[in-house]
Amino acid sequence: MDYKQIIEEVYQEVQEENQRGKVADYIPELATVSPDQFGIALVDLKGNVYGVGDYQVPFSIQSISKVHTLTMVFNVFNNKLWSRVNVEPSGDPFNSIAQLEYEKGIPRNPFINAGALVITDALCSKFEKPIQQITEFINELAGETCVKINGDVKSSEFKHGERNTALAYFLKSYKNFNNNIDEVLEVYFSQCAIEMSCVDLAKSFSFLANDGFSIFAKQQIISESSARRINALMLTCGFYDEAGEFAYRVGLPGKSGVGGGVAAVMPHKFSIAVWSPELNDKGNSVKAIKALELLTDKLSFSLF
Ligand code: DON
Repeated sequence: MDYKQIIEEVYQEVQEENQRGKVADYIPELATVSPDQFGIALVDLKGNVYGVGDYQVPFSIQSISKVHTLTMVFNVFNNKLWSRVNVEPSGDPFNSIAQLEYEKGIPRNPFINAGALVITDALCSKFEKPIQQITEFINELAGETCVKINGDVKSSEFKHGERNTALAYFLKSYKNFNNNIDEVLEVYFSQCAIEMSCVDLAKSFSFLANDGFSIFAKQQIISESSARRINALMLTCGFYDEAGEFAYRVGLPGKSGVGGGVAAVMPHKFSIAVWSPELNDKGNSVKAIKALELLTDKLSFSLF
């Protein structure tokens, strides 16, 4: 498979079509990014990297970090985790509060904000230096020191964090939050403010394409069955109320972030990260989704 040629074709076609969206501005600092940037990095299971466009430019990974923190926590709690958070698509926006009340403080899945806050709370219960350990974990997955937390994005999120703060208090009222709220929010906003390039992000997802073994960290990160489950969660919940559409158009487990990034895996073949900051009204990158749709159309194999 000539990945280089395929991603170059995809890049050209997406740029020619030039569908536009809107850069996230509910976190004001994210709105300062230049909207025309666009990069793709594909990493195969031998470690070969194929990149095009702005694939080496660091960007705010935002909710994509929820996959990394879920992996850390899943390794510690295993199936006990599922008494605190469900594994169902929510059909609601990522920052919705309403469902949490109907469902008595048990978030639908670990990728909506309510669920991710529970995961970060669980992480804070088991890791003594959570921010440092998340950073080290992702660096290890990528096989190099590449993670940087953008302090301006982090403080912008804190300053405009009313919704996440409300979710955390709500969870606490249902006794589904064990640690100090401000401390957990600090960890959550730090993980969201991580900046990485497409190439490093794709490398950090490689273990999910490889039955839990990272060729960059040179070790088994999680068991094969846990890797399968994280992929199942990404496929069904990774794009919030657009998860069905992403599965229909692209057909890969993937995770989006409001920084405009998408990371996805083709199990047993490759991991990929695509970035373009302009989002659709569900908070997912317009060009990144289009690129992945074109890519999976061009491949001679598919997940299904
Ligand atoms: O908590 C938030 O709202 C952001 N830090 C992350 C949201 C996000 O990336 C949703 N994904 N598309």
